[in-house]
Amino acid sequence: MKDQLEGLNLVDSLRLIAGTYPGGVVFSSSFGQEDQVISDAIWKNDLAISIFTLDTGRLFQDTYELMDITKAKYKKKFKTYFPDQEAVEKLVEEKGFNSFYESVENRKECCSIRKIQPLKKALAGAKVWITGLRAEQSDNRSGMEIWEWDESNQVFKFNPLIHWTIEEVLEYLKENRVPQNRLHAKGFISIGCQPCTRAIEPGEHPRAGRWWWEESKKECGLHA
Ligand code: ADX
Ligand code: SF4
Repeated sequence: MKDQLEGLNLVDSLRLIAGTYPGGVVFSSSFGQEDQVISDAIWKNDLAISIFTLDTGRLFQDTYELMDITKAKYKKKFKTYFPDQEAVEKLVEEKGFNSFYESVENRKECCSIRKIQPLKKALAGAKVWITGLRAEQSDNRSGMEIWEWDESNQVFKFNPLIHWTIEEVLEYLKENRVPQNRLHAKGFISIGCQPCTRAIEPGEHPRAGRWWWEESKKECGLHA
């Protein structure tokens, strides 16, 4: 598949994957800038790829607003996966609402309950998982390929923007008038959950605003 994808533009590559795995292709969107590019390409071209988002219950209000704005613009549906109710109730009862600040272990526990487990549900039955990952985003991501086998989720992973630069992403968004999270204009680059994301200063690493109090690799485990 990697060879077939070579040289194809975004829409043609998405079309190829959708045609090769009919009914088995899903795209996970966090409504970040990269994800909005991919959703625009899927919806404007009526590609047979279903889109889902993982609502951790802790997102920014601006993100929820962008979700509604996007839905209204394209007149398309996406599926929202929520965390398991009992798991969240147990976590909050035992450790409170903000346990993620106390240790990396606690933070990973919260990400596991609110993101990783719902992701497993969302990927059940899927053959291909599309993401908005870019190599530039981090050292961990710089080694990723456009087409990979994801052993932990037992799906092929298609990262169509893996070699795009941030400038290319911004140009696409502008040219195609794609709605964006208004937090980007306030210094937020990579946007996740509200308690775990802050704006960054000029010159800071693009992911410096994620789990900023931690020294560890800035990953929640979705793409470990
Ligand atoms: S994260 O692992 O640090 O949270 P990041 O925000 O960079 O990931 O997003 C990378 C890709 O992971 C996105 O392009 C998207 O495909 C997927 N992703 C991340 N968060 C979510 C979410 N809440 N819902 C759906 N997909 C997500
Ligand atoms: Fe929990 Fe923060 Fe992870 Fe969101 S990013 S799931 S609030 S630890």
